[in-house]
Amino acid sequence: MINETYKAMLQGKSVIRELSEYATARGAEIGYENVFDYSLGNPSVPCTQDYTDAVIKLHREENPMALHGYSPSLGNTKVRGIVADSLNRRFGMNYETKHIFMASGAAGALAHAIRCVTKPGDEIITFAPLFPEYFPYVNTSGAVLKVVPADTKAFQINFEEFEKMLNPNVAAILVNSPNNPSGTVYSEETLTRLADILCAKQKEYGHDIFIISDEPYREIVFDGKTCPYLSKFYDNTLSCYSFSKSLSLPGERIGYVAANPACTDADLIALMCGQISRGIGHNCPSSTVQQAVAEVIDETSDMSVYETNRNLLYDALTRLGFEVVKPQGTFYIFPKALEEDAKVFCMKAKKYDLILVPADGFCCPGYFRMAYCIDTEKVKRSIPVLEKFVKEEYGNS
Ligand SMILES: Cc1ncc(COP(=O)(O)O)c(C=O)c1O
Repeated sequence: MINETYKAMLQGKSVIRELSEYATARGAEIGYENVFDYSLGNPSVPCTQDYTDAVIKLHREENPMALHGYSPSLGNTKVRGIVADSLNRRFGMNYETKHIFMASGAAGALAHAIRCVTKPGDEIITFAPLFPEYFPYVNTSGAVLKVVPADTKAFQINFEEFEKMLNPNVAAILVNSPNNPSGTVYSEETLTRLADILCAKQKEYGHDIFIISDEPYREIVFDGKTCPYLSKFYDNTLSCYSFSKSLSLPGERIGYVAANPACTDADLIALMCGQISRGIGHNCPSSTVQQAVAEVIDETSDMSVYETNRNLLYDALTRLGFEVVKPQGTFYIFPKALEEDAKVFCMKAKKYDLILVPADGFCCPGYFRMAYCIDTEKVKRSIPVLEKFVKEEYGNS
């Protein structure tokens, strides 16, 4: 019998994907260089040469039977150790190999982490604005996603609303910093306050509340800053990392879950992920890719272009009168639309071949997202177009 749940999901297709497909089709008509496509979060800088060299070396020198064989179900043991050492060195943690589980990108890591610390019917709380894929990630696990309305002043956490939503059914909090779509990095004050509240609630309810920390943008932070490592603030944390953005490898599907060694059942989390893999079929990410990322574990692509693009767009948008919080990381900027309905605003922008994503799906109506992981030259060319759009449609300049 057809599964009606998945069939019904066909009606709720990703707006981002639809806009990206539109941009590609429009590009075929007028030349893609003339479409200012700010839709998709696909990195625009190449992976490092060292990564490419590592892949080539593995193919040239490794025994093909070993290289292309199944990796252990928790991931290549040596690679897990290299990940643990890197996190310890960089963030002052004390992970061991047994705390790391290799997964297919952040999406794969989240699928495991969610199932590890919730059961069907449990609530997971997250904060707007949010990555719209959180709904399918959580809903298909049987847990229920509850969304705290945005703090539109700074895009930190709206604690007043958060505290109202906490209740004994809450099993986990899903946190994304640096944040897609706002570009905000949660401050140490925010993370300390979040941890204090959760510690008190764990005692009050008599059960664990885990933080699932979604960190694919952890390395993309601007102005010489770094992103506070959430697991340092709260023991019951599962960090979900991905090399998709930091090493520009989204197609290679590689990331991991790191269980804080002080969390409940820390020694069992990776093992449980191995069991979850058996059920959801996301087991054994590519063994070549696991070994190649381990060779360049502390490297990132050259991400200076994202900061350049952030500066260009932030200056232009503020000059044009947009209300916008300056992003501290990622490759997204999240201004308020110039009319109440951001869908209408983005529809009007399309006439100028500006592809902007309305934020209704990000649970923050009235705002829109620009993914500025595109060539700086194109960002520069888009600014007069943005000016023209604003002037003609809204009479501002
Ligand atoms: C906030 C957030 N979480 C998770 C993901 C999934 O990333 P991955 O490609 O590593 O699966 C993305 C991808 O854009 C994202 O923006």
